[in-house]
Amino acid sequence: MNLFNVYPLYNVTPVKSRGSYVWDDNNTKYLDLYGGHGVISIGHSHPYYIEKLKFQLNQIGFYSNSVQNPLQVKLAEKLGKISACDNYNLFLCNSGAEANENALKTASFISGKKRVIAFNNSFHGRTSAAVAVTDNSNINAPINQQQVVTFLPLNKIDLVKNELEKEDVCAIIIEGIQGVGGLDEGTTDFFKKLEIVCKKNEVMLILDEIQSGYGRSGKFFAFQHHGINPDIITTAKGMGNGFPIGAVLLSNKIEAKKGMLGTTFGGNHLACSAAISVLDIIEKENLIDNVNTISAYFLEKIKEVPLIKKVKGRGLMLGLEFEFDIAEIRKKLIFDKHIFTGGAANKKLLRILPPLSVTKKQIDEFVDALKGILNEKS
Ligand SMILES: Cc1ncc(COP(=O)(O)O)c(C=O)c1O
Repeated sequence: MNLFNVYPLYNVTPVKSRGSYVWDDNNTKYLDLYGGHGVISIGHSHPYYIEKLKFQLNQIGFYSNSVQNPLQVKLAEKLGKISACDNYNLFLCNSGAEANENALKTASFISGKKRVIAFNNSFHGRTSAAVAVTDNSNINAPINQQQVVTFLPLNKIDLVKNELEKEDVCAIIIEGIQGVGGLDEGTTDFFKKLEIVCKKNEVMLILDEIQSGYGRSGKFFAFQHHGINPDIITTAKGMGNGFPIGAVLLSNKIEAKKGMLGTTFGGNHLACSAAISVLDIIEKENLIDNVNTISAYFLEKIKEVPLIKKVKGRGLMLGLEFEFDIAEIRKKLIFDKHIFTGGAANKKLLRILPPLSVTKKQIDEFVDALKGILNEKS
């Protein structure tokens, strides 16, 4: 059997990883400033994480959601405390798309309505409703187009108000900081007004923190930079440091009904154990403080690099915008300098999504490499 060939691949085969580094099958060492697409939060193959997962696997790796699982309760308590979202309830699933799917479904169940407002350049995943609220017609199949979605530009509150007046909207979904789209974000004023108009019109405000959550923006969730309280928060990527787990945090005003949501694998013992150990490390190693320290260092250091038009994003969710397509730079970074970085829908944007434990020395390594490439170019 061959693989269903859907991914454009770089010809690199990582076989080993530690902290901010991965090694390929020729034992070449790469600095990972991409974190496997913003997934690696506490660093690759963290010894504590490995120990906890091994222990859990020796105890029990999986049982269904038809029995008690104290690890889910422990995870909910710990996540509530560390994220300061202890007035939310937790539904566990397996991926980001699934988290958004369940968030949208809940909003529709509660309101009995089905239209969703999403924003230009958004990315919310590839399943049914999640892909329908994603602003990319190339990945939206006819079956997904049955969903009723209106896309609006960011930061235009009057356009949002006009749509809500039609009284058929169940939810507004917005990323804390846009990831795939290219690091644009709502202003504090916009987020605050969104919260107000959603409350007024009884529409659920869903914050997609799948990429911007788990400390990546310099606060646990990116919306916390704006002082709002969404009705529903979705998260995934950094939550399991590579172990597949996603979550929906639902305001405790939302009433759960038996059978309303469900999953076979979501919240299994191994996934919970991975997610608990990630939170343990975020806390023990003060990783959110590290995000803020390294982010400030990065923003200073990057001034040494020529040809950058704009630096976008927050914390360790950053984008370097150039006047030209960055595909060639990204290739040179990987193959000549052995550094992984990310791309975006905006072809002129180089994305930086390192482990939250990345060091100043590793940032220096990147800046020197990028300067080398760009000096050759200019
Ligand atoms: C903001 C955002 N939402 C949702 C998703 C989908 O997550 P997953 O690929 O785990 O389904 C992604 C993935 O990149 C994302 O960046």
